[in-house]
Amino acid sequence: MSVLEWLAEAAAQRAARDLVRTTDPGRSPHTRPMLDLASNDYLGLGTDPRLREAAVGAIRRFGTGAGASRVVTGTTAAHEELEGELAALTGQPACLAFSSGYAANIGILTALGDPGTLIVSDAHVHASLIDGARLSRSPVAVCPHADLGRLEALLRDRTLPRAVVVVESIYSVLGDAADLPAIAALCARHDALLVVDEAHGIGVAGGGRGAVHAAGLAGAGHVVVTATLSKSLGAQGGAVLGPPLLREHLVNTARTFVFDTGLAPAAAAAAARACRIIGAEPERVAALHAVAERIASAAGVPQAPGAVQSLPMPSPAHAVEAAARLHADGVLVGCFRPPSVPDGISRLRLTARSTVDPCAAAAAAARAAAYGTAARRTSEVPA
Ligand SMILES: Cc1ncc(COP(=O)(O)O)c(C=O)c1O
Repeated sequence: MSVLEWLAEAAAQRAARDLVRTTDPGRSPHTRPMLDLASNDYLGLGTDPRLREAAVGAIRRFGTGAGASRVVTGTTAAHEELEGELAALTGQPACLAFSSGYAANIGILTALGDPGTLIVSDAHVHASLIDGARLSRSPVAVCPHADLGRLEALLRDRTLPRAVVVVESIYSVLGDAADLPAIAALCARHDALLVVDEAHGIGVAGGGRGAVHAAGLAGAGHVVVTATLSKSLGAQGGAVLGPPLLREHLVNTARTFVFDTGLAPAAAAAAARACRIIGAEPERVAALHAVAERIASAAGVPQAPGAVQSLPMPSPAHAVEAAARLHADGVLVGCFRPPSVPDGISRLRLTARSTVDPCAAAAAAARAAAYGTAARRTSEVPA
């Protein structure tokens, strides 16, 4: 079988299982205004005039790209400003910006991993952390989701001298929160480093400063944060935050930092401006949570602690159909199916955003729930 025949077979299998993804434009051009409950621009900062102005200013000053790796000539004042602002927002001593959150997660785990370090990863962590662990050359133990007893046993019984525990503060698809105080305490007891991916926590938890800050763990030497600039911060890029010694180690050894062109200065400048806005305008974060509460109660699901509210659907086909019907009603929602759902349950993902009308969001959530109920009635597949 040729490679192209193999690709055609794989595509046919995906189609038969209703698992085809596309890159159809989500944002534009729509023939009418759409209610956006799908994007990760949780605080509406991606179109804020102040971020646009910061990005344009950086382009005028530094050009459209970084032009080289940060360790060659790619570091600009915009990168330094971003690292200072993000560290100040999250209460961390040092920050290193990467060209994406994906690159930050691969960078930190490959830089920390080696055959003497056990990586213990929660079963629901994002693909970027899974890939980082796989590439790290460390032995990897996958801990059942949020199972603190198992986590303690894995740390206690390890034979390797060092350990790194990997979790998300607010999990990306199911929207639940990690018990950070308990996990950090376990890590301290067993001399492990805790890496917390705050992709869905910064701008959302702790008044916008993140769940690690809210748990009183900002600046704790054994707790490290990774971030994306592409969700609440309305830009693009990623970062690692923690002790200056870690930053120095990453600058010298993280391959996705050293061998990658630096983050575009425009994205760095926009994200720096976003950090200042989040610090100064906590009402944006409060508005997001008010919308989340309205979505969850209208959909009849328990409110998740973050922006993402999740509505289970009986099958991938039902999820696709419900998302298409909502689209026809003028509402954009996320449609998540295997393999993007760790528990295998297809679902609609309704994202609360601070700039949407809470009543419109609640009405859309009620419609989404009604589609789910109708689908379940006609389906033999249990939800
Ligand atoms: C939990 C989590 N970590 C990392 C990433 C990757 O971030 P980025 O999109 O900046 O590469 C994402 C998202 O897309 C995410 O949801």
